[in-house]
Amino acid sequence: MRTIYLDNAATTKLHPLVRKAMSECEEDGFGNSSSLHSAGRKAKEKLDLARETISKKVFAKNHKLIFTSGGTESNNFAIKGLALGSREKKHIVTTKIEHDCVLNTLGFLEKYGYKVTYLDVDKEGLVNLEALENAITKDTLLVSVIHGNNEIGTIQNLKEIGRIVHEKGSVFHTDACQSFTKQPIDMEKDNIDLLTINAHKIYGPKGVGALLVKEGLGLEPLLHGGGHEYGLRSGTVNVPGIVGFSKATEIIGEREIEHMASLRNQLVKGLKDIDDCWLNGPEVDSGKRLCNNANLTFMYAEGEAIVLYLDALGICVSTGSACSSNTLKPSHVLKAIGLKQEQSHGTIRFSIGIDNTTEEIKYTIDCVKGTIEKLRQMCPYKY
Ligand SMILES: Cc1ncc(COP(=O)(O)O)c(C=O)c1O
Repeated sequence: MRTIYLDNAATTKLHPLVRKAMSECEEDGFGNSSSLHSAGRKAKEKLDLARETISKKVFAKNHKLIFTSGGTESNNFAIKGLALGSREKKHIVTTKIEHDCVLNTLGFLEKYGYKVTYLDVDKEGLVNLEALENAITKDTLLVSVIHGNNEIGTIQNLKEIGRIVHEKGSVFHTDACQSFTKQPIDMEKDNIDLLTINAHKIYGPKGVGALLVKEGLGLEPLLHGGGHEYGLRSGTVNVPGIVGFSKATEIIGEREIEHMASLRNQLVKGLKDIDDCWLNGPEVDSGKRLCNNANLTFMYAEGEAIVLYLDALGICVSTGSACSSNTLKPSHVLKAIGLKQEQSHGTIRFSIGIDNTTEEIKYTIDCVKGTIEKLRQMCPYKY
């Protein structure tokens, strides 16, 4: 049976061009990038080139790019590293729809005396800029707001948020794991001080990411050792993985974005005529939604059952968020946009990839309709 993979927000399949670049690097760039000899120098050259390529992609001029093991580490490093490096200010502002690796890092800091303000979002998942402005005080060390939401696809207005954060004299961090290469990001124009990105959402390898850090921010490293990555993240550098990350930044371009958006629109159009079904997050043509995200609630059907039924038909989708969908806890993001527990339990995230086709989407629409009908027949409430 063929597999139709519609869970690209969880992770993507390594692209052949990325695999090629990585295996070439394993061959002729395998040296330790800190070694003085020719093998080390070759690896260092590749590392420098990858750093330059990725930095350019986000127009970083006054920022250092630190390679990490992925989005989770970058978010931990941005938040804890800044907290450890700046001893005076003890207040952080964030939103209720951040990824767990931001929320749990902030929860950890709360145990050590930090105060955190969790901003509400509206029913589309957008932050209220006035509420943001009012929340920032003289004691606010950091404002951390996710760029493209991993569950409902909402895209925040980075430029406006960054402007407000800087006007109020604080530091701006954004988690752009889902939006990187799908949405324009300009570190300077968007006033971003700390940017989290990773490779496995853009057809690169898992376990590779980066944090871009504005010069002079004074972050404390979390990993101490041989002083790699400007002394901010020790450990022998994963050059082949990083070369793969750099190559992966070339995979999604205008054409791919249009392709994914059009399949996503086809999917939403096909599913929305199911009774008691709706799209969560901004409308598909609003310009405020990630091009590949469709998050839909099907009332009177259970999310886990939908996933398993579709899986049996060869279709991979997910309930709730990418990384925590193996818990039955209702999604904090869906709760934040006002969904009740029973609504959030019937919610499925479809995330399109560059290789999906119109036929696959057509087949998926038919399978979802059939699955919902079957499950509703078993539902004790309405059907
Ligand atoms: C928005 C967001 N931030 C952070 C992460 C964590 O990234 P990683 O899996 O590279 O640790 C993810 C991955 O699911 C994500 O979607």
